[in-house]
Amino acid sequence: MKQYSVVIVGMGKRGMHHGAAFNANPRFKVTGICDIDQKRLADAATKLGNPRTSADAAALAQELKPDVFCFCTLPNLRLPFIKLGVESGAKLIAFEKPVAMTSAEALQIKQTLDRNGTKAVVSHQHRYGEHYKKIKEIVGSGALGRVHTVYGTATGWAAHMLSHLIDYTCWFNDYAEPEWVMAQAAGRGKLSDLHTSPDYIAGVVHFRNGVRGIYDCGAGAPDVSEVPYWWRKCRIGAQGTEGFAEVMTGGGWRALTRSGGYQSGPGGMDYNYDMPPYVQQMADWLDDDSQAHPCRFVNAWQGFEIMSAFYRSVAEGGQIPLPLTSGADEIALLKEKMPPRKVILTLAESAKEYGG
Ligand SMILES: NC(=O)c1ccc[n+]([C@@H]2O[C@H](COP(=O)([O-])OP(=O)(O)OC[C@H]3O[C@@H](n4cnc5c(N)ncnc54)[C@H](O)[C@@H]3O)[C@@H](O)[C@H]2O)c1
Repeated sequence: MKQYSVVIVGMGKRGMHHGAAFNANPRFKVTGICDIDQKRLADAATKLGNPRTSADAAALAQELKPDVFCFCTLPNLRLPFIKLGVESGAKLIAFEKPVAMTSAEALQIKQTLDRNGTKAVVSHQHRYGEHYKKIKEIVGSGALGRVHTVYGTATGWAAHMLSHLIDYTCWFNDYAEPEWVMAQAAGRGKLSDLHTSPDYIAGVVHFRNGVRGIYDCGAGAPDVSEVPYWWRKCRIGAQGTEGFAEVMTGGGWRALTRSGGYQSGPGGMDYNYDMPPYVQQMADWLDDDSQAHPCRFVNAWQGFEIMSAFYRSVAEGGQIPLPLTSGADEIALLKEKMPPRKVILTLAESAKEYGG
């Protein structure tokens, strides 16, 4: 079996998760790692079998020409690394959510990948949790009857969490095409964060198969009292004519269906559990084009379009049709248009993030 070489750029929290998972999988060899923080880079090298290190991603990628170019930088760095991965001849680029901060950048990313036929995956890896898979299984089994609604809530703000909520609900809805969205937002605090977004956003999506998506993300989202850990207070599910099923990122799942009654089970998001299959499926896809990765770019793109259209709806008002036909700087639009009023918190403990 071929072993695929990997270069990883950005050895922070997520870079190390990726590094550990690639390093533990015999289908991959981490040949190079990069960070502009020398100490971080040296510490990472000792944990990842002492690959080549560099603070210059372009030089490293050009020298090593990896099969997989992976980057795990903050959201302000996307397009330059996509270009770099493509230019180095990588067969697959693995990168972190969100796809980009603006649709202007994301469209260029999409065009660059499409033009070169480069495979890409975006890390929406929570789906590998047993509790997520259980909900997908229940929805897919038909036990909910005709699914008419999918929904997701999170207390963390959109630049961190919305892309996850949308991706898993689109998965539950078999990635049916979205037709239009409408949204409203509050709170300018996180417009100055590197994970840039409103403090709170709520929106609806109309999917072409008739399913309605409902999203509630950030300071005004409802509590998920079953889950103590603030970042994992997410509830993501589906409702149909014969029941509902939902997963809580940090606290199990539950379902009520006509044929099965009430059921529930354990589960909690765990990077150590979710990363190995995420990485293994990259090897499967590299081996065989027909084994397309569940987190492939085209799936993440759908969520990204919805998110960008939400922002446009906030800035411009009204419904926004999809697909997007041109790029815009949605963050600049939000900065220009969002009112100065402070966001109203649902949870007192959210004051540590959004101010009291
Ligand atoms: N999928 C998930 O579950 C999940 C969870 C947390 C974070 N994330 C996402 O992962 C991304 C990274 O987050 P993180 O928490 O790992 O960030 P981090 O700050 O811990 O790590 C980023 C690293 O990139 C390095 N870096 C910055 N510019 C660089 C450059 N030009 N060349 C090389 N290295 C450079 C930094 O020095 C830092 O070490 C973000 O987009 C975040 O939203 C995803």
